[in-house]
Amino acid sequence: MKKMILTIGGSSSKNSINKKLAEYAGSLLKNVEVVNIDLNDFEMPLFSVDVEAEKGYSKATTDLNRIFDKTDGFIISLAEHNGAYSTAFKNTLDWLSRIEGKVWRNRPMLLLSASPGIRGGKSVLDIALGKFPFMGANIIGNMPFPLYAENFKEDEIVNAELKEALVKLVKEFEKVL
Ligand SMILES: Cc1cc2nc3c(=O)[nH]c(=O)nc-3n(C[C@H](O)[C@H](O)[C@H](O)COP(=O)(O)O)c2cc1C
Repeated sequence: MKKMILTIGGSSSKNSINKKLAEYAGSLLKNVEVVNIDLNDFEMPLFSVDVEAEKGYSKATTDLNRIFDKTDGFIISLAEHNGAYSTAFKNTLDWLSRIEGKVWRNRPMLLLSASPGIRGGKSVLDIALGKFPFMGANIIGNMPFPLYAENFKEDEIVNAELKEALVKLVKEFEKVL
């Protein structure tokens, strides 16, 4: 049976550059079923222990948790908001972590970040590199993607060095699926 991989852009923006980058990386995989997750399809209430106690888990939370149960790996690209996770991503992560602390199920992960700036979301990437392993992430490779508008045009990476680096990471990720 084909392996199933989720791509997730860590953002709720309609035109999320991170969603595009994660999906692009997923499109490089061969003989794998790639499921592209849009956080907008799993909108959750703002997490609080009170909402959790009063209302329990929303359908979006249990649905996404079930999808995470079935996946063989993750390609995540994180948006950076003020040096950290976007609110939408952190909210999703907080809800999911209440059902299963090992959110990432010890499955292989390719961890990316993209931003319009020169650092390519390196601050949020570093946060995730530090924290995700405690949440069951098996991070195979990581890469910040800088200057998105200059380097990614019309559904393609136009910077040869960045493309080569990403293709190499995807191959390494593919090997461990
Ligand atoms: C509230 C806010 C804070 C931001 N902070 C940062 C930042 O700290 N570093 C950065 O590189 N870009 C920052 N940006 C720019 C984002 O990287 C940019 O909006 C990017 O498109 C977000 O990714 P997305 O398109 O996947 O949502 C910020 C944008 C917003 C709206």
